[in-house]
Amino acid sequence: MAINLKGRSFLTLMDFSPEEIRFLLDLAAALKAKKKAGIYNEPLLKGKNIVLLFEKTSTRTRCAFETACHDEGAHVTFLDSKSSQMGKKESLEDTAKVLGRFFDGIEYRGFEQSVVEDLAKYSGVPVFNGLTDVDHPTQILADMLTIEEHCAKPLHKVKVVFCGDIRNNMCYAWMYGCAKMGMTFVAYGPSSLTVDPEVLAAARAVAAETGASIEVSDDIAAVEGADVIYSDIWASMGEEDQIPERVKLLTPYKVTMDLLNATGNPEVLFLHCLPSFHDFETTMAKEWKEKGYDIREVTDEVFRSKHSVVFDEAENRMHTIKAVLCAMI
Ligand code: CP
Ligand code: NVA
Repeated sequence: MAINLKGRSFLTLMDFSPEEIRFLLDLAAALKAKKKAGIYNEPLLKGKNIVLLFEKTSTRTRCAFETACHDEGAHVTFLDSKSSQMGKKESLEDTAKVLGRFFDGIEYRGFEQSVVEDLAKYSGVPVFNGLTDVDHPTQILADMLTIEEHCAKPLHKVKVVFCGDIRNNMCYAWMYGCAKMGMTFVAYGPSSLTVDPEVLAAARAVAAETGASIEVSDDIAAVEGADVIYSDIWASMGEEDQIPERVKLLTPYKVTMDLLNATGNPEVLFLHCLPSFHDFETTMAKEWKEKGYDIREVTDEVFRSKHSVVFDEAENRMHTIKAVLCAMI
């Protein structure tokens, strides 16, 4: 069956079938090969205009959208919460209706998932989720492409273990992604960080159809047989005041060489959405260290090891976001 995603929004992987996700991954690989070959003669987004709304900071997501658009001939406008009227002087509904008249697509990064849903509802153009408090679907596409490039197994045979803050946007996005693609997933973290029961139930309902397995565990034995160890910062954007308690809670779940060895897989991959605290080369890591807190969620040894594919993964943000834009606009 031919896949046609034109006009669709990309709010969560839960809205897409495994075949549609497969299509996006294959398109991303093809667009990556096209860029590597330096082929720019037939831009797929020529004459299109995309607006990028960021209520939280970003390096990769913003740059991925911008470079993807430039490569394929689209123009971008960047707005942050300080330089637009959104939410302060103008309602979300009115903003969405206005942006829908100007632009062919809207990217949004911010807080509530309901904002991307409302933008899609009122704008009349495709909306792309560039991260909310509860999801980060474009990141998962990049992660899956990276796994396929580095792991010989098909996705449905891959086991991913997410270590640390198991109730954050990345962990939930992975639950959805693994459920859709029939993969084995473990959220490995303290039981006091309760995974949203609705997220778990939704992922498990999909898993029951695809053959995926979605588990939550605080037992190190759960990492055994992992093909991918995944980590993220311990306090997501907007949660920085919780760092002291998170460090206490999550230090046992730090990704170390011992944890990689506990997988029993000498070929295990380390992935991380980035940004990462893996050394003390950032002002934040330094400042917290001075206050007596080591906020590193992964050791520098693992981050720089042969297991780590984090920079290939970061590059793949651009190729996969390009696939989403080209398929849906
Ligand atoms: N991984 C990711 O979304 O990075 P940014 O926050 O830099 O966009
Ligand atoms: N959980 C992180 C992901 C950053 C890409 C955050 O929301 O800050």
